[in-house]
Amino acid sequence: MSSQDKFDDVDAYLAERLLPEDETLNTTLSRQTEAGLPPMAVSALQGAFLNIIAQSLGAKRILELGTFAGYSTIWLARALPEGGKLITLELQDVNADLAQRNFDDAGLSDRIEIRRGPAEKSMNIMINDGVAPFDLIFMDSDKINYPIYLEQVIMLSRPGTLIIADNVVRDGRITDDQSKDPSIRGVRTFLDQLKNHPRLTSTAIQTVGDKGYDGFAMMLVNAET
Ligand code: DHB
Ligand code: MG
Repeated sequence: MSSQDKFDDVDAYLAERLLPEDETLNTTLSRQTEAGLPPMAVSALQGAFLNIIAQSLGAKRILELGTFAGYSTIWLARALPEGGKLITLELQDVNADLAQRNFDDAGLSDRIEIRRGPAEKSMNIMINDGVAPFDLIFMDSDKINYPIYLEQVIMLSRPGTLIIADNVVRDGRITDDQSKDPSIRGVRTFLDQLKNHPRLTSTAIQTVGDKGYDGFAMMLVNAET
């Protein structure tokens, strides 16, 4: 049995025991497949992890970079209390259209706002507008620009904001300092920025499961000193 088969089996075993059947999330995933989109969404267990983190923080304002079909967005938005808000940034109109349909069907349209276009631009607008800081930020968009996004998400944070970044391991390819893959290079530069960052306390957790071998970086925003 390959390692990946084992990861798949264990993820299925755990999800069957720990997660309730969820028609809304299943529909989101099947629409993603029908639209010909690759399986880039977080796994079900990872989605539940994000939901638990958001609930534990009592997050009222959540920012997501990279909506895709809205699967992780739904997990996160369900953690919001009455009056809470999630802003999710998406470059591709086709993805945003699909995600909006999923949010409508999930009954979450009142809590979720999709902002279309490049994340860098959307965040600059929010920074210039002086929007209230976010409590939780999930970075899961193009990895190439993670280094640019890092300083922007810090500007949209307050001391105590938790930032989680997806895909920081990529099958271990992240340690290849010769990699020509722009996504790997982007994440490597991003991780270099975390080293001794004055505003962040950081860690990373390696993960295996039905999305293969990857990992989350987690950064807690500190007060300015
Ligand atoms: C890719 C992107 C993701 O955010 C992810 O979780 C897995 C794969 C990708 O671009 O291939
Ligand atoms: Mg991802």
